[in-house]
Amino acid sequence: MGYAKWTKEQELVINLRDRNILVSAAAGSGKTAVLVERIIQIISDRSRRVDIDRLLVVTFTKAAASEMRSRVGDAIEGMLLENPDDEHLQRQATLLHNAQITTIDSFCQNIIRNYFHVIDLDPSFRVADENELAIMKTDIMEELLESRYKESRETNNQDFLDFTESFSPGRTDSNIEELVLRLYNISVSYPWPEEWLGSCADMYSCNSMEEFEETLWMKELKKYIDDSLNDYLASANRALEICNSGGGPGNYCDAIESDINQIMMVKEADSYVSYYNAFCMLNPARLSAKRDPGVIPEKKEEVKALREGYQKNGLQVLKKNFFYQTPEEMLADIKAMYPLVNELIKLVKDFSDLFAAKKREEGILDFADMEHFALNILTCKEDGEVKPSAVACELQEFYEEIMTDEYQDSNFVQELILTSLCRAPEQKPYLFMVGDVKQSIYQFRLARPELFMQKYNSYTISDSPYRRIDLHKNFRSREIVLESSNFIFENIMKECLGGINYDNDAKLVTGRNYEDTDLNISKKTDILVIEQKSEEAENIEKRILEAASIGDCIRGMVQGDNPLYISGKDGYRRAEYRDIVILLRSVSGWSEEFIETLTDMGIPAFSDTKTGYFSAIEVCTILDFLRIIDNPRQDIPLVAVLRSIICNITDEELACIAALPRTLNYMD
Ligand SMILES: Nc1ncnc2c1ncn2[C@@H]1O[C@H](COP(=O)(O)OP(=O)(O)OP(=O)(O)O)[C@@H](O)[C@H]1O
Ligand SMILES: [Mg+2]
Repeated sequence: MGYAKWTKEQELVINLRDRNILVSAAAGSGKTAVLVERIIQIISDRSRRVDIDRLLVVTFTKAAASEMRSRVGDAIEGMLLENPDDEHLQRQATLLHNAQITTIDSFCQNIIRNYFHVIDLDPSFRVADENELAIMKTDIMEELLESRYKESRETNNQDFLDFTESFSPGRTDSNIEELVLRLYNISVSYPWPEEWLGSCADMYSCNSMEEFEETLWMKELKKYIDDSLNDYLASANRALEICNSGGGPGNYCDAIESDINQIMMVKEADSYVSYYNAFCMLNPARLSAKRDPGVIPEKKEEVKALREGYQKNGLQVLKKNFFYQTPEEMLADIKAMYPLVNELIKLVKDFSDLFAAKKREEGILDFADMEHFALNILTCKEDGEVKPSAVACELQEFYEEIMTDEYQDSNFVQELILTSLCRAPEQKPYLFMVGDVKQSIYQFRLARPELFMQKYNSYTISDSPYRRIDLHKNFRSREIVLESSNFIFENIMKECLGGINYDNDAKLVTGRNYEDTDLNISKKTDILVIEQKSEEAENIEKRILEAASIGDCIRGMVQGDNPLYISGKDGYRRAEYRDIVILLRSVSGWSEEFIETLTDMGIPAFSDTKTGYFSAIEVCTILDFLRIIDNPRQDIPLVAVLRSIICNITDEELACIAALPRTLNYMD
């Protein structure tokens, strides 16, 4: 079954049993393929006769879950063709429909529907719609701030008033609303939001320099400074290298060497106070003004640019941002912040309580609720320690293995839910996780790639109950694509940027052989440099210009004199529009222009953009309409409604209206 030839590592992933396994591998190395094959091998292993519904398989999207289910289904059918009388296989074909190949949200919903009584929840709940929740949050926030203002005036709660002054200086409280919502969202990605919120406020209650040094963000700050100093040191050494090279500005050596000594001096610091003292002692030497005809001007400029990078834009910026006053003054500021931060945290907690109550009232749950209710059902606390609950112990008896694809995108709550079902290393069910920390793209969903890294660093390559297996070969892309990606990432991805060093271990290595051909296939990576040659081009919006240039390329590949060929299922064939994808750094604000431009060029294109409900043109128009009903003296919403399908006023007509004397009142 499966591929012509699994690699040795893939074989190990497919066949290793009775231990926790972390499969760490780059994109396209067959992680999902081996996960599916492992499921197939487990259920078709006659010695163990495991039923498919005894495996819990967690994916990150519904699409991935249904694709995995169908791949397993195809495999079972294939095996049944060879062994039509195999009762175990027949049973798997029946059980497949109920098999738990699912997203974490659906799994949580399932747990809640089966064990709602454990947490006294009304089982007739429904899953809330994102937009419904957004409206509810806005209403609750408004009510909460209004009541808090009223209460603070009545009780003269100066801390709250100071808090609003500091956090929302403008005319609206939008800063505070955004901050409360962001903290609320982060808090629900923690197993116990209240505890995490409390710990945030505690970080400001430090009474001594020692406590100050021990705070979480001080540790982050020191790490950031140390990483930056390493970069500056590397730049300074590079500059010195150039100074000492042929044609280099040798006269600059003294100043650069002094820079290096000073950076080394700062690097010796190990506390905020010692960093402060070190930064105060920084005194960059002047570059020698002595003229040397033998110096190559480019080298001189390069050294100057490097020095500006680590001096003016480096050390000086660090000093200005983090050491602009004495540590004692800094501590005093932190202390002064404590009552205000406390008010903020109180506000977040109240918002969370009101929001939860409102949802209960409406009989709705959101994804965070489902995860937290499932967590409450599956875990309990004994003497402050988190333990699997009776329900979890019951499910531990049921499951054979807990498998997670894209494990790098798990958050703390999901991690606790899945580990509560596992009994390793003593006995099954074991955890089987596949992922790639370099692909952790859901930080905005508060994914915690550090969970992956903890296991990556603690699981062993050698045999043990906690085993890590790395897959190295990429089977999805051509060598040219892998080389280009390697070139970019080996130059930018470091532990401090991306969480992992892009070393030889991380590099993408091709595993697939493509048939040779004389046809025109992509053999190199092109960089398109778009020059805005004419004034006319200068007026065209950059995005449209980029889209048009890319469109030209695409048209050449598909319809040009020397069309591109790609390897399809039955060998090489001419590329078609559907074979081409344009990767954008972010879709919103770009995809619309690209679609419009490409369509105008006769290139069929589509983008799966889910722009927000409130940014949909029809919703914006209705909201503007409601605004001018509420208060007609608002030009922007008024013009939007006039230009919209409601009034259909043309730009020329609008210009005529605008030309009318200001004294005229449009509302009459
Ligand atoms: N040993 C192999 N021989 C040939 N092709 C393979 C082999 N292993 C995997 N593939 C193919 O490589 C492609 C990528 O595999 P898969 O989707 O499982 O990778 P992945 O590691 O899950 O990628 P991602 O990180 O993007 O999720 C698939 O088309 C798969 O069929
Ligand atoms: Mg995958």
